[in-house]
Amino acid sequence: MLLVSLLVVGVIYENGARSMESLRELAAHRGLLIGTSIDDAELGSAAFRDLVARDYGSVTPENAMKWSVTETNRGIEDFLAADRLVNLAVADGQQVRGHTLVWQRQLPGWLFTDGRPPSADELRTLLRGHITNTVARYRGRISSWDVVNEAMGDDGRLRENVFLQVLGPSYIGDAFTWAHAADPSAVLLYNDYGLENGGPKAEAVERLVRGLLDEGIPIGGVGFQAHVSLSTPLDQLVATMDRFAALGLVTPITEADVRINDSADANVLDDQARVYRRLIDACVQARSCPSFTTWGVTDAHSWIPSEYPGQGRALLRDDRLAPKPAYDQVRAALLGPWWR
Ligand code: G3I
Repeated sequence: MLLVSLLVVGVIYENGARSMESLRELAAHRGLLIGTSIDDAELGSAAFRDLVARDYGSVTPENAMKWSVTETNRGIEDFLAADRLVNLAVADGQQVRGHTLVWQRQLPGWLFTDGRPPSADELRTLLRGHITNTVARYRGRISSWDVVNEAMGDDGRLRENVFLQVLGPSYIGDAFTWAHAADPSAVLLYNDYGLENGGPKAEAVERLVRGLLDEGIPIGGVGFQAHVSLSTPLDQLVATMDRFAALGLVTPITEADVRINDSADANVLDDQARVYRRLIDACVQARSCPSFTTWGVTDAHSWIPSEYPGQGRALLRDDRLAPKPAYDQVRAALLGPWWR
C-alpha cells in the first residue's frame, strides 16, 4: 500500500514537474526532436526568437536555402539569411534541417533563357555546384538535408520537371551522391507530400528509394511533409513509415500543418487538435521518426492562405502567438503514455 502511494505521488510529482517543461524539453525526454520552419522575416522579432529557442530543438529554413535565394544572380552567392538562421540555431543549441537542394519551384530565373532550360551538361554542372557549395558551407552544422523535394507525381510517375526533362531520372541519385561528398555525416532525405496514408504515390516513392539503395546511393530517409486537412486519412501513417523503416531509413515528419476552412467556427480547433495528436502520436509510435517539424510557428505566417484560398489557421499558435488546442494536444502527446 505504501509502495502504491509512493508510486502515485511520484507520478503526480513527475507530471507536475514536467508540465512546466517546454515542448522542446518534453520531446527530448522521448528522444524526439520537435521542430519548426522559420522564415527569415520572422527573425526580426525578439519575442518570436525567444519562443522558438524555448519550444523547438530543430529549425528548418522555410525559404532561405532555396536556390532562387542563395543564388538570385548567377555566380553570386547570398547566404545572408541562411547564415543568420544557422548561427542563431547553433547558439541556441538547436539542430538545423537543410531545405531544400533540388526542387522544381523557387529556381533562379537566370537558369532559363527565354523560358528555355540549359543544356544537360550545363545544368548538371550548375546543379552539382549548387549542391556542393550549399552543403559544404554548413558541413557539420546541418544534421539532415532535404536533398530532393517533391520529385514524384501524384500519379506515381516521376514529375515532369526541368531536371527530369533535361537530365533524366539519374538526377535524383546524382544529387544524393554530390550532397554526401560535401558532408558525409549529414542524413540525406527524399522529401514529399501525400505519403501519409500509403497508396500509389507512397508505393512509387518506396520503389524509387529501393532502387537508389540497390545502386548504393547514400539516402538516409524519407521526409513525410504531412500538409494535411481535417479529412486526410491517417490510419496507415505508422504502417507506411514502417515500410520505409524496414529498408533501414528514417521517416521524420518534416512540414506538418493542418489547414481548416475560414468559415468554420472556433469548435473546429478541437478537430484540428485531434488531427495534430494523430500525427505526433504516429511519430512517437513509429521508431523511425526522429523529429516532428511543423511548417511554421503561428497562423500569422503560413503558406496556406496564399495557396489554399479560403483556408488557414493551420499551425499550433494563433496569429497573436497564443497556443491553440493543437498545441496542448502536442504537449499532451509528449507527456502521454506512449514510450519509445
Ligand atoms: O522572393 C520574394 C521576395 O523577394 C518578396 O519580398 C516576397 C514578398 O511577397 O515574395 C518573395 O517570395 C515568396 C517566398 O515564399 C518568400 O516569402 C514567394 O513569392 C512565395 O511563392 C514563397 O512561398 C513559399 C513556397 O514554398 C514556394 O513554393 C512558402 O513561403 C513556403 O512555405 C513554401 O514551402 C514549401 C516547401 O518548401 C516544400 N513543400 C511545400 C511547402 C509549401 O508550399
